[in-house]
Amino acid sequence: MNRAAFDYFADLLRRESGLQMTPEKYYLLETRLLHIVQQQGVAGIEGLASLLRRDEGNRAVRQAVVEAMATHETSFFRDITPFERLRDVFLPMFAAARAADKTLRLWSAACASGQEAYSLAMLLREYGAPFDGWDVRITGTDISHDIIARAQGGAYSQFDVQRGLPARLLVKYFMQDGETWRIKDDIRRMVSFRQANLLQPPPFAAGGVDILFCRNVLMYLDMSSRVRVLQGLHGVMHPKSLLFLGAAESAGGLGGMFAPLASMPGVYVRSDADTDLPRAP
Ligand SMILES: C[S@@+](CC[C@H](N)C(=O)[O-])C[C@H]1O[C@@H](n2cnc3c(N)ncnc32)[C@H](O)[C@@H]1O
Repeated sequence: MNRAAFDYFADLLRRESGLQMTPEKYYLLETRLLHIVQQQGVAGIEGLASLLRRDEGNRAVRQAVVEAMATHETSFFRDITPFERLRDVFLPMFAAARAADKTLRLWSAACASGQEAYSLAMLLREYGAPFDGWDVRITGTDISHDIIARAQGGAYSQFDVQRGLPARLLVKYFMQDGETWRIKDDIRRMVSFRQANLLQPPPFAAGGVDILFCRNVLMYLDMSSRVRVLQGLHGVMHPKSLLFLGAAESAGGLGGMFAPLASMPGVYVRSDADTDLPRAP
């Protein structure tokens, strides 16, 4: 692949998704775009770049390029600490604060194949009594149509269920179907999935989200896209809501919209929130 083609795809990916292509991803780009080159019957990556340059309106091929370059690595209860904090510290808080209207809205943004959203559903189901009879909605979104279809399917391999999912929850909330484990309907019904690009306005009303997991996606985006994504998240978060980022991510210095909580790395409140939660100095 020549430099001009690499630059073209780096620019396309940044504009379409915020994904940042650094020079060390040169070979990754070449390998992952190969099947699109073959499908389109063009002469190599340069040919694919020329096709798209001639026809910028070719939405399906541009989306295929984004899908090919996105990393969908995920697992059930990934980096367990945020889930434990949610269970031990924040759910009791929401159970009290929302006792009157009995609603709770959770968003798993950039949810990949759905393990994070289903983990939240199992966590709430296990939590039990205070939320029985509540209107709890968990939404999973991702830029990739293919991965959202997998999440909706709720079917996981032996490998998937061996990563992070306690055996007790596997037996309780999944049905075995040959080599596949299917999530049971009562958990599946708590979660809905839809395709959504975090660079676009989020599919929620202002203030409509209470608990937001947006983990392990900002780290793949360029700086201005991170700020744009955080602006979108901020707009739909309830003033007393919580934002969970990934272990390797931070909202610090990204527009000052969020304040980290003391002793809870990766958990943020809106900077303008009027909450008693202690903030990091
Ligand atoms: C590494 S996975 C993270 C999955 C899950 N949040 C976790 O932490 O396990 C990153 C996901 O971000 C999605 N993604 C990348 N850019 C996106 C964007 N602009 N809007 C929405 N999703 C995006 C990818 O398709 C991928 O599924």
